[in-house]
Amino acid sequence: MDQPWWQKAVLYQVYLRSFADSNGDGVGDLRGVIDKLDYLDWLGVDALWLSPVTVSPDKDWGYDVSDYRDVQPVFGSLDDVDELIVEARERGMRIVLDLVPNHTSDRHPWFRDPAKRDWYVWADKPNNWVSAFGGPAWTYDKQVGRYYLHNFAPGQPDLNWWNTEVRDEFDRILRFWFDRGIAGFRIDVANGLIKDKELRDNPPVQRGDPPVLRRFGQRPTYNRGETWVMDLERLARFYGTGTDQLHLAFNFPYTFAPLEAAALRDVVERTQAVFPPEAWPVWMLSNHDIPRFPTRTCGGDERKIRCALLALLTLRGTAVLYQGDEIGLEQVDVPLDRRRDVEVEGRDGCRTPMPWTSDGGWSDPWLPLGETTRNVEDERADPKSILNFVRDVIALRRSNADFQSGSYEPLEAPDGVWAYRRGDSTVVLNLSDEPRAYEGTTLAPWEGAIN
Ligand code: NOJ
Repeated sequence: MDQPWWQKAVLYQVYLRSFADSNGDGVGDLRGVIDKLDYLDWLGVDALWLSPVTVSPDKDWGYDVSDYRDVQPVFGSLDDVDELIVEARERGMRIVLDLVPNHTSDRHPWFRDPAKRDWYVWADKPNNWVSAFGGPAWTYDKQVGRYYLHNFAPGQPDLNWWNTEVRDEFDRILRFWFDRGIAGFRIDVANGLIKDKELRDNPPVQRGDPPVLRRFGQRPTYNRGETWVMDLERLARFYGTGTDQLHLAFNFPYTFAPLEAAALRDVVERTQAVFPPEAWPVWMLSNHDIPRFPTRTCGGDERKIRCALLALLTLRGTAVLYQGDEIGLEQVDVPLDRRRDVEVEGRDGCRTPMPWTSDGGWSDPWLPLGETTRNVEDERADPKSILNFVRDVIALRRSNADFQSGSYEPLEAPDGVWAYRRGDSTVVLNLSDEPRAYEGTTLAPWEGAIN
């Protein structure tokens, strides 16, 4: 049977506001993406996942939607989306959109429509649920005289997915975009759509729970399951054989594992062990919510960045690059007075503008540019750059079926070395500070090879 395109794919996440600005207003836009399609084609990616393009008051930068069927004016228009789809298709690339079905903006007309009260989640007395952005997940609404649920900011009321009208409306929204020719959706907070019908209190955290939960003081048993799950067995349950399950569910345990042979190998092997046979893994290292991996796991060390990218692109599964990963872009320390994010800890540092040239290529961008030593133009001209390395590995992945469909088989290797076979090919990574011998050759510290 033919393998579906998304299994072989390298997906490229475009954080629209910071990708490319075609009209000089300091905010990236759809025409900017169209202008960069030749670059993305040269890089060799198969599909672009765009952060929300829909209309939004931008309390959470697009993740608070006030119209699911139109484009945020600062990004362009529906015509631009159509053109992007066509232009991408001409280069053999697909467009995946972000869908935000867990909540709307509080400015969405549905939220103020008395006939649609039951489209949201209400309570007379709030339970103990906390919002992912900190503080209670409930806000009192004077007009209604009850509390509404918001698992994120107060401007993001949660929808009630027990209500069939909500489900039917989203079916129509999906159809609206599929009819325009998009290839699929990344579903925001897919794990949180269904809330406990009885709105029971969450239990407190237990010893041994991951730090991400300890921060909240409770386990999100009744309000969120998350494919943002740190438990692989739970992650596996998001897959299945039916038609109503996810094709891919992000593997955060891999993303947050340290760059150590034993740790990475362990996550990959456990993933393989708990996933149903049909479930296809997806790997990523950075996104618009977490610190960029070149800083977070690699401390800026170029050798380590290459090792992390080599594994990402050669493991069995779909690979997702976040814009800038391909040039080894680092996290930016955004000064307090320039921060724009609603989240307490702030996610601006991974959302800064993409540096296209040594001066960035932006005029007065909405977030400050970071260091531009690593930029697209210079790296493209340098055959030894991270960018050209990534392009070469993607090209290999595309031309060699081992990397698309071959099984993953871990190999015996000395301490600090991670080695695995994909079909007839072998990937070896020396993730240590010492030279290591492997199969008659010596790998320098932090050197990777494909044989
Ligand atoms: C997950 C998204 O990735 C994040 O950026 C957003 O703030 C929340 N969901 C709420 O929509």
